[in-house]
Amino acid sequence: MSDVAHRTAFITGGANGIGLGIARALARAGAKLALVDLDAEGLERAKAELSETTEVFTAALDVRDRAAYARVADEAEAKLGPVSILINNAGVAGGAPSSRMTYELWDWGMGINLGGVINGVQTFLPRIIERGAGGHIVNTASGAGLFAPPGNTLYCTAKFAVVGMSEALAAELEPQGVGVTVLCPGPVATGIMERTRASQPKVTKSMSTEQRGKAFATNEAARQALAAGVSPDAVGDMVLAAIRENRLYVHTDRVSAEPIKMRTKALLEALSHLSEGGAAA
Ligand SMILES: NC(=O)c1ccc[n+]([C@@H]2O[C@H](COP(=O)([O-])OP(=O)(O)OC[C@H]3O[C@@H](n4cnc5c(N)ncnc54)[C@H](O)[C@@H]3O)[C@@H](O)[C@H]2O)c1
Repeated sequence: MSDVAHRTAFITGGANGIGLGIARALARAGAKLALVDLDAEGLERAKAELSETTEVFTAALDVRDRAAYARVADEAEAKLGPVSILINNAGVAGGAPSSRMTYELWDWGMGINLGGVINGVQTFLPRIIERGAGGHIVNTASGAGLFAPPGNTLYCTAKFAVVGMSEALAAELEPQGVGVTVLCPGPVATGIMERTRASQPKVTKSMSTEQRGKAFATNEAARQALAAGVSPDAVGDMVLAAIRENRLYVHTDRVSAEPIKMRTKALLEALSHLSEGGAAA
């Protein structure tokens, strides 16, 4: 999609962080914005800021709520016209070591980080295809959707799925004039850790002092890495460029480079155990 001007973009998690950075970039490029988020106050702040640049619709929405999603989509399109740019970005960090995981945590993390993306695609893709005027979908995954840092099983499960879904959609939708981008950020300076802590279901299984110490150190290291990360506005500019150039993958730094190489090497080495015909050598 070479020109986003006058198009309507629907951005989940648009009140803060990367979603707001993408909103700013799209607004400057002339797109109209529908911003949805759980954070009603954040939405108000974003609307006050972005209304100076473009038309803005906001609505409180939990991306896990399918009925509400469809309702809000109708309202947004009634206000701003057909949505042709969908940014599935709402997400949470969080999780727990596998020994402490609960079904409640699985449902929460998968529901937002994967289910939210599925719900966005189910809501808008049929409309975009039926209108036949093209479009673009951006799914926010993570570097942790391309390689698996230890201790991130819940997050990686959802984000790997978002990468796979995006690759499959890109191949399928290209002939229909719908582009797909999967955003795989490294550390970005947002408040995701704090917001996640406020919304994540409590893990009731008790922790040993050693586990507690480890969890604290891991969280602190992640918090510091994020604080030193790329700015959300810079990520917004990268996403806008990828939409214009119809690029599938967006990295935000080179942090993933070595782990991706190691994973690819391990996958190819596993193939080398097969003879040319396919049976084990
Ligand atoms: N910050 C990073 O370093 C980083 C790195 C890789 C991937 N990501 C991904 O980027 C995306 C945006 O994260 P961010 O860092 O900007 O975080 P953020 O907390 O600043 O923004 C995320 C937004 O999503 C909203 N949200 C959370 N759950 C929601 C729900 N159920 N329904 C609707 N809105 C909901 C939050 O209220 C928040 O406004 C996420 O998908 C995250 O996993 C972030």
